Amino acid sequence: MNQTESSAHQYPAAMVNITNRCTLRCKHCFIYRDENPNDANAEMESPTMLKKLAELQKLHGIQHMLWMGGEPLLRPDVLKEGITLFSANTVTTNGTIYPIELPNCTYVISVDGPPELNDAIRGNGTFKKVMNTLSRIPKQFAPTVMCQCVVTRQNEDALEELIKLLRPTRAEGMTFSFYVPPKDDSSDLTWGSLERRDQAVHMVMKLKEKYPDFVWNKGRSLELMLSENAKAVTDKCPSKRLVLPLYLDGSEFVTPYCCYGNDVDCDLCGAWVVFYLAAKLEEGSLRTN
Ligand SMILES: C[S@@+](CC[C@H](N)C(=O)[O-])C[C@H]1O[C@@H](n2cnc3c(N)ncnc32)[C@H](O)[C@@H]1O
Ligand code: SF4
Ligand code: SF4
Repeated sequence: MNQTESSAHQYPAAMVNITNRCTLRCKHCFIYRDENPNDANAEMESPTMLKKLAELQKLHGIQHMLWMGGEPLLRPDVLKEGITLFSANTVTTNGTIYPIELPNCTYVISVDGPPELNDAIRGNGTFKKVMNTLSRIPKQFAPTVMCQCVVTRQNEDALEELIKLLRPTRAEGMTFSFYVPPKDDSSDLTWGSLERRDQAVHMVMKLKEKYPDFVWNKGRSLELMLSENAKAVTDKCPSKRLVLPLYLDGSEFVTPYCCYGNDVDCDLCGAWVVFYLAAKLEEGSLRTN
């Protein structure tokens, strides 16, 4: 490691938006908020992107890459090459495009409730498309396949119904993340206060007890998300220290305030990764340098 590399901030993980194009326009999506780089027209060429990612890997010591977008499966060439740069890879996808075989990778397929509630957030017909994708993934497909549901005030009462729909599918498990609102959010997705969010967190805790093999949230992460604990976690956001966000701005990567962009309301943040990392740090089971 040369001097510049050793003095650059070391990040064990990074998340990268490899495209601002997407097949959907979900209501809750932080990518397409006005304050974030999200122009889908200009895009960095694949060789340039791979070169920059290799440089960033070296500079920051990145081990785990979280591949996102937009819809990352719109750039399979970047994924195929890019995953060879990192020791662990997670691709988060909206499930409208069939996933490609990638070694050393976990696929997270987003689904935000049973059909009606999912489609109200993610667009008409998307639940069916996701189920169709899951049904086509063969047993011998190498990557781990899991689902993620973003819990909002709209779908909080239908989480068990979603579990019952997903358990018989190719998904090996799922996590619940919670909505990250922008500042001054007045949409019907937000609870508006941590206290009002608590009942949804308690619901996920109960579901974790009932379906321990399928709900992959850590018990302690959920406890940390409760109103009496959450602010102490988000005030020192572990994701901000440990996960380097790379957004695509034309032919450049830029780093916004955090993985969820520039206009976030940290006090109401429910991002899975934040509370997962906080629980891991408490356990002492995370290397942070
Ligand atoms: C921005 S998407 C990009 C990858 C892909 N297009 C997808 O939807 O899975 C990554 C994840 O962020 C979630 N997400 C979007 N907006 C969110 C928000 N405001 N708060 C929390 N999670 C959000 C999505 O549901 C998805 O699981
Ligand atoms: S599919 Fe993903 S990137 Fe596209 S709008 Fe929905 S959450 Fe955002
Ligand atoms: S919005 Fe969430 S992830 Fe972003 S800095 Fe605030 S607490 Fe951390």
